[in-house]
Amino acid sequence: MSISPEPMTGEEIVRLSRQHTLFPWAVQGAVDPLPIDHGEGVYVYTTDGRRILDFNSQLMAVTAGHGERRIVEAMAEQALRVAYVNPSLVTEARARLAAKLAEIMPGDLDVTFFTVGGAEAVENAITLARHVTGRHKILARYRSYHGSTAGAMTLTGEPRRWPNEPLISGVYRIPETHRWGEPEPRPVDELLRDTERVVQYEGPHLIAALVVESVVGTNGVLVPPDGYLAGLREICDRYGILLVADEVMAGFGRTGRWFAIDHWGVVPDLMTMAKGITSAYAPLGALAMRRHVADAMQTKYYSSGLTYYAHVVSLAAALATIRVYEEDGLVENARKMGEVMRAHHLDLLARHPSVGAVRNLGLFGLIELVRSRDPYTPMTPYGGTSDEMKAVARYLREHGLFTITAMNGIHTNPPLCITEEQLGEGFAIIDGALDVADRMIAG
Ligand SMILES: Cc1ncc(COP(=O)(O)O)c(C=O)c1O
Repeated sequence: MSISPEPMTGEEIVRLSRQHTLFPWAVQGAVDPLPIDHGEGVYVYTTDGRRILDFNSQLMAVTAGHGERRIVEAMAEQALRVAYVNPSLVTEARARLAAKLAEIMPGDLDVTFFTVGGAEAVENAITLARHVTGRHKILARYRSYHGSTAGAMTLTGEPRRWPNEPLISGVYRIPETHRWGEPEPRPVDELLRDTERVVQYEGPHLIAALVVESVVGTNGVLVPPDGYLAGLREICDRYGILLVADEVMAGFGRTGRWFAIDHWGVVPDLMTMAKGITSAYAPLGALAMRRHVADAMQTKYYSSGLTYYAHVVSLAAALATIRVYEEDGLVENARKMGEVMRAHHLDLLARHPSVGAVRNLGLFGLIELVRSRDPYTPMTPYGGTSDEMKAVARYLREHGLFTITAMNGIHTNPPLCITEEQLGEGFAIIDGALDVADRMIAG
């Protein structure tokens, strides 16, 4: 059965969607969505047949690429067998996926709690850390995004938190690896010293967890300096605080390793995942815990749950997705194509005065735009936008490239199946958009 007997026109799809749905993170009167018909590999196609290169895996989520039949068929097969069971019952998909995650996750991360998406995984990280430690406070950073439910939104440091306040109690900030307006990270010794100071000021015996994105995503693909995550691990160990790595965006191969934190060989106590876990073919999030955390829960009641806990169709999607990553060598491709991306980034940095800095780890990348490099002046105020960034976004859209521009950054996060040629195609379009930005800052 198809969705409708007669296909709608693109105009009708846009009109009804605007009339009857509320768009996230948007001023409703200003939305201008494209009607998408289908997707294949690194491309999506509009209802009138326009091909668009997906340079952001939609929401850094369609990691295996569009139209992947192996995933869809696994979901269909599972749905026909049984589409949903009560979370207190178990299925082969649940057993297999949990065991597979234990195999690929860092260190002795061994036990998983499933959720519907990233925010609930973060929410449960807060709940579980409080249950296990008996402490209340949580530490997080300003330049971060952790989700839009109350707890995750409180941990979120960036401006999207502001309209939602007041939120949950007990969340405090640790220093940023990268200050806004400074392209290089702060010296790691200084960072760790200031972080430990916050721990002491807040009372180490009151702090349940310290939560960081291993590599910060939406807030600028901020790759931490070497030694930073290991230093956080030591601070947490010293004071009995649980280290939580948020890998919702950076996980599942995006950075050229299964998980971003693997680049530094650090094992967090808790790890949150979503997005790439199913390549967004079905909603799924997960919270993983190390053995010692799981052991501590053996005699404690866990007071949290969801109707769609371990939704079996989502679990089947995750199993098939991980199989696709393995069969097609996509994690390795992300590493290799990450080097190609780096060369493109550096070329753009060399040729465009409007580019202030470039960063990438695997296929997790960002181009930072500036008005001037010296003094370093971002193209937007913190939390804002500018005419130049709007012109860049318009150019990309008009030239068939889908990505996200957030504050002064152009994200470059394509599906992991991208080829060298397709990367070249995308960066040629970005090159043209940067010409526009160059002209605008030259006046
Ligand atoms: C690092 C990080 N954590 C958590 C979330 C929230 O995930 P979800 O939108 O699935 O709730 C996101 C979403 O972008 C994210 O990037």
